[in-house]
Amino acid sequence: MDKKIKVVNVVGARPNLMKIGPLIAEMKNFGDIEQILVHTGQHYDDNMSKVFFEDLDLPDPDIYLGVGSAPRDEQISRIVDRLIPVLSDYQPDLVVVVGDVNSTLAGALAADRCRKSCNQPHQIDKTDQIDEIDQTDQIDQSDHFRKPYIAHIEAGLRSFDLSMPEEINRIETDRLADFLFTTEPSANDNLKREGIDPAKIYYVGNVMIDSLVRYLDRALINWKVLQAQMGDCDYLLVTLHRPCNVDEPCRLKIIISALTELARDLLVIFPVHPRTRKSMINSGISVEAISHSCPNLRFVEPMGYLDFLGLMYHSKLVLTDSGGIQEETTYLKIPCLTLRPNTERPITIEIGTNRLVDIDQLVETARTIIDGGRPGDTQIPPLWDGRTAERIVEILRKALLR
Ligand code: UD1
Repeated sequence: MDKKIKVVNVVGARPNLMKIGPLIAEMKNFGDIEQILVHTGQHYDDNMSKVFFEDLDLPDPDIYLGVGSAPRDEQISRIVDRLIPVLSDYQPDLVVVVGDVNSTLAGALAADRCRKSCNQPHQIDKTDQIDEIDQTDQIDQSDHFRKPYIAHIEAGLRSFDLSMPEEINRIETDRLADFLFTTEPSANDNLKREGIDPAKIYYVGNVMIDSLVRYLDRALINWKVLQAQMGDCDYLLVTLHRPCNVDEPCRLKIIISALTELARDLLVIFPVHPRTRKSMINSGISVEAISHSCPNLRFVEPMGYLDFLGLMYHSKLVLTDSGGIQEETTYLKIPCLTLRPNTERPITIEIGTNRLVDIDQLVETARTIIDGGRPGDTQIPPLWDGRTAERIVEILRKALLR
């Protein structure tokens, strides 16, 4: 019988979906790959999940674990407990996890738990890698692994801020992974510094940019509908959801006050993440009262992928604490202010579209950028070319189809 690779793709939270989409589509091109999609249910609201399945042409999940919201440790352990029986039943060769959310680490932990309970060592062939991809070190053919292998997409990013749950998720996931697919050179350096075997590290580019490249035209068609509703005006686009910005009432109030100040100059559009909406309510910040006194600051529901992409493309400036948006604005050459003291994506700063900003400097820095216009013809990082999923699947097939 012809050999097949059985793959379990794990997603759970909104930013996973634009990363897994191109991989699922690419895997479908090969008859020797059989795949299922597991959704953990970390994000469960329609506007945090379902709309992205529609916008990104994702198949319905084969399995929905329905874990819902819970404190981090509990959420992770619920996912692990519910995923292990799925893996034991399906017996995949490979589990693919993406990004840095709790579902990412939980997917890797469940896979690792399964292989620890299996005694059969398997040998993986890493001798036959793609020529164009810059592999820095020789491959150790004596490496032994156990199935399922774990592939981590977007490995190696580090903020060096252990107070962020995402940083712990990244480090722990990378320790468990057999295939570490990286998006920027700093990630390769970080992994090597942490003692990860260089033969496991593959610089392949950014799979989220694959989605952007694929859907930008569609987003710009959608944009015409949005523009007709909004009118033709300059605007600032805001997203905030990190615990460090939204969970502390005093800080959140200062940020909202800064947005109110900026809304004197131009329209401010703020799709509000559920975490942020809850924090606003808990902090006594009334969306209704602010909207009444400052109609130029528009709080809206979280948006679908296409609407958000179109809005981002035409914005004067993006203010965010998201990881992915720092990268999307870099590709689109749009100025971005990141409301954090650090970023795990330093290439976005080096290229010049992205700047870290403190809340005290927010209004002044935003005004300077708005007056100064777009950053000009900045570069796009190497291999952010819309073909990352192709490279990943080629590497996996060469390694696993023996
Ligand atoms: C998660 C990720 C973060 C990612 C973000 C994108 C972790 C640690 N964090 O943060 O890296 O950038 O998703 O959105 O995995 N909630 C809803 N409806 C939903 C989902 C969540 O109301 O569909 C509420 C929950 O009640 C929860 C809060 O939002 O209390 C936070 O959700 P959670 O998934 O824990 O983390 P995010 O802040 O969304």
